[in-house]
Amino acid sequence: MKNCWVALKKPLIYLAPMSGVTNKAYRQIVKRFYADLVFPEFVSVDALHFDSVKTLEILNFDKCEHPIIAQLFGVKPEYFYEATKKIARLGFDGVDINFGCPAPKVAKNGGGATLLSDLGLCREIIQATLAGAEGKIPVSVKTRKSYQKTSVRDFCKKISDLPLAAICVHGRSFEKPYLGKADLECIREAKTLVPFLVMASGHAHTPEAAKETLDFTKCDGLALARGTFGRPWIGRQIKEYLTSGKYSEPDDGEKIKIMLEHAKLAGSSQFIEMRKVLAWYVKGLPNAAKYRNQLVRVNSLAQVEKIVQSILLNLPPACDCQK
Ligand SMILES: Cc1cc2nc3c(=O)[nH]c(=O)nc-3n(C[C@H](O)[C@H](O)[C@H](O)COP(=O)(O)O)c2cc1C
Repeated sequence: MKNCWVALKKPLIYLAPMSGVTNKAYRQIVKRFYADLVFPEFVSVDALHFDSVKTLEILNFDKCEHPIIAQLFGVKPEYFYEATKKIARLGFDGVDINFGCPAPKVAKNGGGATLLSDLGLCREIIQATLAGAEGKIPVSVKTRKSYQKTSVRDFCKKISDLPLAAICVHGRSFEKPYLGKADLECIREAKTLVPFLVMASGHAHTPEAAKETLDFTKCDGLALARGTFGRPWIGRQIKEYLTSGKYSEPDDGEKIKIMLEHAKLAGSSQFIEMRKVLAWYVKGLPNAAKYRNQLVRVNSLAQVEKIVQSILLNLPPACDCQK
């Protein structure tokens, strides 16, 4: 088996799965700057069981995106077994299991983070996925700090003997899923409890915070999520910062040109999903609210190009601090 988790140089810096965000265009613009791995948004094993066209569309990727890992959610071990075989056939470089999602659509069916209430079932799901992978692709898991009384410590202890490639820990609880500072202590502890790779999620929103996460937790990599919003270049900045202690920031004009490149990667059917993503790029620009209002209504590349022209025309001249 070719195991990308193990083969890639550490620390890994990669794009985490994000539902409604990490579509093909998003993955490719992030990868253009820097990402060791990319993930499409999670897909349901039940939907894969029924060969849902929408789900198969979500899983569509281009060759340039390798290594790419698919993430599954659901509750039925037999569906994980079957789905993993499909994921391997589709050419993915790995399969990941979601034990962390707090979203009602997943949690109300007993999936995602709520699975942590039944660690025996978590084990069964992992074993079924490993059996479906048949050693052809690596299996990893993603979870969070805690769900009710079950902590990531309990989860790690229950699964540490399984032949997993990696675990990604989001340092926030089910009850406070995205707010507040992520707890790095639980990630540091996870690193001492499992023999496989540990990835950190939840704090690396800047290069400085990325370094702090790696230094404190001693983990093997970082899953980037909201830190990439309007900043697909953050992976490259983190890489630069880790090697040289400094990093460069694109100027406003460059940022807007990157936004246009991003829009060009989206097919016409993806424009609705693209709207909010484009609006993230104008944060902090003069007249940002006006441009955001325009971008959240676009239906075509031509409309984005028009907005980009207007932004570029109205940008104040770049300050040349060397003069
Ligand atoms: C819009 C959105 C969608 C997400 N979808 C997924 C998902 O499909 N699978 C998953 O494991 N995590 C998902 N997450 C969680 C992220 O991967 C990540 O663990 C979390 O946002 C914490 O990292 P951050 O503070 O850097 O954003 C999602 C997060 C956001 C903001």
